Amino acid sequence: MTPASVADYRDLARRKLPRMLFDYIDGGSYGEVTLGRNTADFEAVALRQRVMRDMTGVETGVELQGRKWSMPIGLSPVGMGGLFARRGEVQAARAAAAAGVPFCLSTVGVCPVEEVANGATAPWFQLYMIRDRGYVRALLERVRAAGCPVLVLTVDLPTPGARRRDIRSGLTGRPDFAGLVRRACQGAMRPAWLWDVWLRGRPHRFGNVADAIPAAHGVDDYWGWIGENFDPAVTWNDLDWIRQVWDRPIVVKGVLDAEDSRDAARAGAQGLVVSNHGGRQLDGAVSSIRALPRIADAVGDELEVYLDGGVRSGLDVLKALAHGARACFVGRPWAFALAAGGEVMVEKLLETFRAELRTAMVLTGCASASSVGHGLIDQA
Ligand code: FNR
Repeated sequence: MTPASVADYRDLARRKLPRMLFDYIDGGSYGEVTLGRNTADFEAVALRQRVMRDMTGVETGVELQGRKWSMPIGLSPVGMGGLFARRGEVQAARAAAAAGVPFCLSTVGVCPVEEVANGATAPWFQLYMIRDRGYVRALLERVRAAGCPVLVLTVDLPTPGARRRDIRSGLTGRPDFAGLVRRACQGAMRPAWLWDVWLRGRPHRFGNVADAIPAAHGVDDYWGWIGENFDPAVTWNDLDWIRQVWDRPIVVKGVLDAEDSRDAARAGAQGLVVSNHGGRQLDGAVSSIRALPRIADAVGDELEVYLDGGVRSGLDVLKALAHGARACFVGRPWAFALAAGGEVMVEKLLETFRAELRTAMVLTGCASASSVGHGLIDQA
């Protein structure tokens, strides 16, 4: 099948990955209510069709954090990408560079920041605040030395929300004997993945924090490590501390509330991502697209406002821009494309997004992605 939509990449990924990994990407927390809202609320937005406006010169480029990009789309940080394809984060970063969009590397990516920077281009780097500030300081020094231009501080995970699919699949927690057998069976049912990713894609460590997580225990120790080491005591004052070690732009990721967005601006962030972690944290929280307008109204003049969660096409990107975002990020779409066929498929996905965005801009009479107004939305 030639994939034409994110749903197609999802189907391909389901056929390529062991069940446990597919569920890890696809799932949300608890009853997956917020996960469903993220896409349903995008679908509910109606765009105004406009005609006869000479749309020969549509411009999709935008400036984000002082750099020009080819379109207002980026790749959100996704943990464990190196298990979806061989050295997955490097492949995804290459695809993003080829498409002229930012790639954000997760703290808990498989490939270390140095490998991604050398193999592709220096990514944006996502940080989870860890209790041991000495460790964070050393990590940020590494990230800086690797040339990363932007730090993305994820603030919506002071404690991990439970994903029931991961509990059922045995991904969360140490597997018992039956769990180990189940894992082995799932791997055996995907021989291409077993050969290409599991055997040839090693090491499967969490490259950025490998020295803090004993490599021998890999994923099992990782969940325990998160519980023990992610810092629930973080406050806005910690941004001051980060700035002592990090003198480049800081983007706060995981804000859904207008008051919090004002705090982020007061704390001196250069950007924020309106996000509910792709419906993987507080189930029952509002969708990103619904939360966006009030945050854009509150702080859109003070910092750059982005959105992630539920973006499944270039049309969704335009809808988000019309609600006040400067750019959108996608998580599951690139993870599925990476699993479906590595770098080439991520590039293909991004070209599809670009074509869809362009078409949507032409059909709504919108000439420039950097000046999309609320007028594009049909209010009736
Ligand atoms: C994530 N997300 C995430 N966020 C983050 O800040 N650090 C991380 O390590 C991860 N890991 C992660 C793994 C997987 C499998 C998913 C699906 C998501 C959240 C991610 O950055 C983003 O906020 C959401 O994925 C956006 O929603 P969509 O595009 O997946 O609907």
